[in-house]
Amino acid sequence: AQDVTLVKVVEESEAPMISKHIYGHFSEHLGRCIYGGLYVGEESVVPNTAGVRNDIIDALKELQIPNLRWPGGCFADTYHWKDGVGPKDERPTMVNRWWGGVTEDNSFGTHDFLNLCETLGAEPYLAANVGSSTVKEFTEYVEYVLHEGGSPMAEWRKENGREEPWNVKYWGVGNEMWGCGGNMTAEHYADVYRQYATFMTDWTNSDGLFRIASGANVDDYHWTEVLMRDVPKHLIEGVALHSYSFVEWNEKGSSIDYSEEQYFSTMKTALKMDTLVTKHSAIMDKYDPDNTIALVVDEWGGWYEVMEGTNPGFLYQQNTMRDAMIAGTTLNIFNNHAERVKMANLAQTVNVLQAVVLTEGEKMLLTPTYHVMKMYNVHQDAKLLPVEFNSPTYKFEGEELPAISVSASKNESGTVHVSLVNIDAHKKHNINLSLEGLGVKRLSGIILTSDNLQDYNSFETPGAIQPKEFSTIKVKKGIAEVELPPFSVLVLKGE
Ligand code: AHR
Repeated sequence: AQDVTLVKVVEESEAPMISKHIYGHFSEHLGRCIYGGLYVGEESVVPNTAGVRNDIIDALKELQIPNLRWPGGCFADTYHWKDGVGPKDERPTMVNRWWGGVTEDNSFGTHDFLNLCETLGAEPYLAANVGSSTVKEFTEYVEYVLHEGGSPMAEWRKENGREEPWNVKYWGVGNEMWGCGGNMTAEHYADVYRQYATFMTDWTNSDGLFRIASGANVDDYHWTEVLMRDVPKHLIEGVALHSYSFVEWNEKGSSIDYSEEQYFSTMKTALKMDTLVTKHSAIMDKYDPDNTIALVVDEWGGWYEVMEGTNPGFLYQQNTMRDAMIAGTTLNIFNNHAERVKMANLAQTVNVLQAVVLTEGEKMLLTPTYHVMKMYNVHQDAKLLPVEFNSPTYKFEGEELPAISVSASKNESGTVHVSLVNIDAHKKHNINLSLEGLGVKRLSGIILTSDNLQDYNSFETPGAIQPKEFSTIKVKKGIAEVELPPFSVLVLKGE
């Protein structure tokens, strides 16, 4: 007899909404993410809108990206926003010290970014400079972006061509303050944060500001503890967390040419996200039992060695079915922790780390990660349906990991979606899905799978990996029987 895993999807009146902002993205001035990626300039032969590639705009709209974080990353705490506004030919240059030491000409600045977000229908998330800035520079930025008129910064914005303020709710108060943001202790940063947050004003007074404190590196629980303990609640709306998936930090391995051992290790770090989110949330629960402060995982994704022949400071890597596994399992973790995790940002959008889009000259392709994000966007702002199951294991050389990951939701019109991932490199897994009491009459599905784990979409065969209709669903006595192939992502729709 074949092993079968019973997955029960239940409905709980108290279950939280899955915030659409969990499906956020991140674009840094790093390598070819902005320049030579998103932004090609108005004079480019590549069709563009205000210098941003039309094919990327279309792809991101299609993805329904809810928010976009910018301009860093480590770059954020070296960025002086005033250098990036006003006539482009008068802007000063700077050296991008973290990423390849290249010259940044500041041609893509705040207006370009905020206008792009309006085009995309995405909320901007400005990660503002604390590490090498001042409270004055920081608060003038808030005034420039949000003040209606009559203030020095608002008038300057108008001179620069933007009459109305933008609507920017999400503000990051520095980035990785324990590292590239200033190598601060948690205790020191908590004080600095209090100071900066005090002078941030919500000039537009629309939705209120959402101030996000630079958060912990992976399992630095002390960092979260200190921020939650020392920052008064009226000054903070979110605490960040960064965690990447890799084989080993000092030996990341190739993004395409990896062994099963390397795959297994990568999935081990990816699945650790569940423990991280659980433990950071438990600390937050202690200080914020009413759940007013969000956990914002504003950098996550796979991180490998750069592609051969490319600038090591540009973090350009390919994206295989391993990345689809990271995306599927991580998003399931976030969905299942939607109570506290209200925002997250995949690193990064174009040509950097676990990108959803890659470009080469005029060519552009969508990665397996793009397809997973798109398949999963049905969970955005839907109500979480808790799932109960015992996962079979994926075994490798005496070690084991849970093979199956699941999350489910019900949207406003009553449609149920269940996303399932099988990370097992060899074994298919049979799932019996119980949707009892959810009013489901018809089930359909889409699946992302490929022949080999190391498969990817290349510029020669950009459509090699694509979601396909999944029609082999048997329903018997209210139980749906599905067979999950090795390293596959399946999203089922129940109506
Ligand atoms: O995403 C690449 C880098 O990773 C970011 O700049 C930094 O915040 C993190 O260490």
